[in-house]
Amino acid sequence: MKYIYEEKAGPNGPTLLLLHGTGGTESDLLPLAGIIDPNANVLSVRGNVLENGMPRFFRRLEEGVFDEEDLIKRTEELHEFLNEASQRIGFDRKQVTAIGYSNGANIAGSLLFHYKDSLQKAILHHPMVPRKGIDLPDLTGTEVFIAAGDNDPMCPPEEAEELQRLLTAAGANADIHWESNGHQLTMSEIKAAASWYAH
Ligand code: MLT
Repeated sequence: MKYIYEEKAGPNGPTLLLLHGTGGTESDLLPLAGIIDPNANVLSVRGNVLENGMPRFFRRLEEGVFDEEDLIKRTEELHEFLNEASQRIGFDRKQVTAIGYSNGANIAGSLLFHYKDSLQKAILHHPMVPRKGIDLPDLTGTEVFIAAGDNDPMCPPEEAEELQRLLTAAGANADIHWESNGHQLTMSEIKAAASWYAH
């Protein structure tokens, strides 16, 4: 996968995994890393799928309707990339915090839904429930921050609440922060994520 890696914390410190939204690139969320934890390593990845030239992390059939088979395949691909990159680059695989927006939040959510120890923490900006009706792995000890919009037309509030419920039922600690700015990634939710991460 195409990515940017910035070493700041060394092999034993935390790493922030940045996952952009539809049409984004691995450069988009770099400023967020500096706000969430300026001393963490940064691994920012570009989605491998193109939709009309726009990078994404998995295919969708239409807006809000995911291609499940591709989602499962791409989730495995990202999980294996993280395993391989941690060995090759030398970062602690056990201290990875995903920061994802929209499509990037959905692939991060999918990592949580499919793999027990893929992420230590996740900051999900405007996520949906990645898959319905599956058993989640034991997520005890996993910390999740969800930033959602009570008027988000793409990721409706019920969907964010359902995601929180499913993650909590699997043993994760999942907090929700509400905004009223539609699907936008706002500075106030980034700051709320930073204070959640700091505590
Ligand atoms: C998705 O496809 O992951 C969601 O609809 C959000 C987005 O458009 O990226």
